[in-house]
Amino acid sequence: MLPLAAALLATACTGSPTPPGAGDPTTSAAPTGSAGIPGVSGMPPTELSVAGITVVQSMGNDPLLPVAVRRPVAPGQGSMTDAIAAWANATESTFRADNAPSEQAPAELNVGWQVITASGPVLGIRMETFEFGGASGQTTHRVFYGDGSTTWTGMDLVTTAGRAEVAALVRSAVRASGHATLDPDEVGAAGVDALLTDLTFSAAGDLVLLLDQGTVAPFSAGNLTVTVPQATAEPLLSERGRRVADAVRSGLPYAVSVPTSAAPTPVAPATPVTPAPVPPATPAVAPPPAAAVDCTKLKCVALTFDDGPGSLTGTLLDRLEAAGVVATFFVLGQNVRIHPDLVTRMVRSGMVVANHTWDHRDMKRLSLSEARSEVDRTSAEIARVTGVSTTLLRPPYGSMSPQTATLGQAIILWDVDTEDWKNRDASITTTRALATVRPGSIILMHDIHASTVEAVPAIIAGLKARGFTLVTVPQLLGNPQPGRVYTRR
Ligand code: NI
Repeated sequence: MLPLAAALLATACTGSPTPPGAGDPTTSAAPTGSAGIPGVSGMPPTELSVAGITVVQSMGNDPLLPVAVRRPVAPGQGSMTDAIAAWANATESTFRADNAPSEQAPAELNVGWQVITASGPVLGIRMETFEFGGASGQTTHRVFYGDGSTTWTGMDLVTTAGRAEVAALVRSAVRASGHATLDPDEVGAAGVDALLTDLTFSAAGDLVLLLDQGTVAPFSAGNLTVTVPQATAEPLLSERGRRVADAVRSGLPYAVSVPTSAAPTPVAPATPVTPAPVPPATPAVAPPPAAAVDCTKLKCVALTFDDGPGSLTGTLLDRLEAAGVVATFFVLGQNVRIHPDLVTRMVRSGMVVANHTWDHRDMKRLSLSEARSEVDRTSAEIARVTGVSTTLLRPPYGSMSPQTATLGQAIILWDVDTEDWKNRDASITTTRALATVRPGSIILMHDIHASTVEAVPAIIAGLKARGFTLVTVPQLLGNPQPGRVYTRR
């Protein structure tokens, strides 16, 4: 269950001194979990995942303009996948058009996603956007639903006539909870749309609206949730809204028709994709004994790969294994959740798996508790999947504050930057990897770019030709100490 929903139920049951009438909407403030910056909240963790969903990542690794956009690709939900892609691309384009790289106050865009509904043919995805405009940050939400052939947004779940009524219910619920509301005449029609970006249903059929900061109440009220009881909501729902509500209420396993790519079969057999609860901890993967290397005597170098694992990581592992070479992977916790098989394969192959946070936020902007959560969730996920613990952290963008050094991690940066995320060219990446490398170097790459995976055999050959021994970061550094920052041996 989402903590959001739990908080809501708790408030609805016990939080109000005068219990609302049976048909009245209720309001609660969503947890923001952030000290200091209003509206900064992590994606509410969800245990709901759907087998087969893969992720597309657009990672701009420029510390002067941090951008990390992740979106799902759901098999059998092409329409929805396309709609989310169009929205995510537009969000990134707008952000890039509005914000220039800045050394003093870099703007930041971070888009993530979670499954909110997976039942029958209906898949629901919530996109969460954190945007920092140089002075303040805001987190906003938007849901997409798909039934395999079509997709719709929150607004589509309510009839055209019902939208104004839902908006009125929301405003009165927010006022009843003691918050001032913004003048509907001032926010206008766009204001009504903004109230309907994140609509979900409880198992009992209640309509739950997640209201972003500043859409219905002043910014200082934070994010709010309003629950409209089933009996009140029902007449306001569109046919699509009823289908989503019914799917949630039915509790059926998720099942979509996955079109086969080759044959023009008119009706593909339904492939049930059951909502996959987080699997129990797997037995520890036994890493092979690390080769004894003495980097005080040998010319050692460490290849490192960030931001994965992803769809290209398997090919990269093929190439590393074929060359008999080990490397260090700084993984995102949420990608470990999606690709546990790749992470266990890394460990079996003698690679080192280390921490690149859960969702690639700029750590300079995080409260201490948020920063801890980013690191600890990821370490816990790596340990759950592999049985191996890590205390090596590479902060996204190499961006850190003094606080980052207090998280019990050795901070692993680099001294050779291939800029593979920028050049996207195998020969340039290879040239840059070999140009300034020296004994003790740590080389930065990203295993989410095809050009990088393509470059790796030539990089390995070039390093070996110069007498380098390729090692993992722990082999290179010996025993890296928590709180210390390393750019090379
Ligand atoms: Ni990164």
